[in-house]
Amino acid sequence: MKTSITKDVAKCQKLLLEGELVAIPTETVYGLAANALDSKVVKRIFEMKGRPAFNPLIVHIHQMDQLSILAKDIPQKAYDLAEAFWPGSLTLILPKQDIVPEIITGGKPTVGVRMPNHPLTQELLKGLPFPLAAPSANPFTRVSPTSAQHVWDYFGDRIPAILDGGPCQVGLESTIVGFEGEAPILYRKGGIPKEAIEAVVGELRVSTENEIAPEAPGMLLKHYSPKTPLVVCDNIKEKLKENSLKKVGVLSFYEEDFPLATKVIALSKNKMMEEAATSLFEALHILDASGLDLILAERFPEKGLGSSINDRLFRAQN
Ligand code: TXA
Ligand code: MG
Repeated sequence: MKTSITKDVAKCQKLLLEGELVAIPTETVYGLAANALDSKVVKRIFEMKGRPAFNPLIVHIHQMDQLSILAKDIPQKAYDLAEAFWPGSLTLILPKQDIVPEIITGGKPTVGVRMPNHPLTQELLKGLPFPLAAPSANPFTRVSPTSAQHVWDYFGDRIPAILDGGPCQVGLESTIVGFEGEAPILYRKGGIPKEAIEAVVGELRVSTENEIAPEAPGMLLKHYSPKTPLVVCDNIKEKLKENSLKKVGVLSFYEEDFPLATKVIALSKNKMMEEAATSLFEALHILDASGLDLILAERFPEKGLGSSINDRLFRAQN
């Protein structure tokens, strides 16, 4: 099979209608998409990613009235969040309707739903009679893709098409919020800062230690990992001295002056947290392909998107 990297939405719709996988752009990261209501093709997503079956997939929709087809007993606060942040980088975990196949939810009684904010993917979804299941388009535990090229580097010609929507504007996966009764719980830090969610629904209980499967504690702390060892630190210059015999790459927030480093990427020269988040995974892909012995990543200020960036860096370090 030869993969087409394409902007042709109709062509991708045709493939999805035929029961194929297609990689899709979203504002957060690229997804590996298929008909969410077809268990057979969804199984191929798990196989392609090497993803364990207990780890559920997010279902992507394009309009509000699809929500109640997929989910039930929806708390008012979920509607408030959808109203505030959809389309956008927010996934809601809600009790599932019977129409959602077990394979999507890893056997859980809940389903994750998101309305992505990318014009090409919205157009794609509008022309389909089903929602799309899509995990990030990377092999299990690897760094998420933020460009069509990243997806191609991972899967080569194993998927028929990659819908090319350019580089992802947010660059971190969606923030995941679920509920215990009416009480909101933060399951994954992401593209929408915790503080912004709290401004809408009040204080969140945080349960991000184990992003996914509470029944398998700690298992998934390794995630978003480059092949090159990565260490998060506060004093990069000191660490560079300790590792002076190695080829070391530096991933910094804004500073570029590290004479002992082999390669330096500053995520935002203007100290803009949003820009740093957008560039994070691209920088990890580049550093990982640079033949380094070690990557030293600067710890970010623990607030807003900085907290989401730190979450990814610490999982990359494990
Ligand atoms: O930004 C995103 O969310 C991207 C784009 C493609 O939409 N998707 C994404 O999917 O990051 P994935 O599969 O890489 O991560 C989805 C996360 C996983 O940690 C999964 O366990 C969690 O969402 N999740 C999905 N459904 C869930 C459920 N019913 N209960 C708990 N966690 C769930
Ligand atoms: Mg993922």
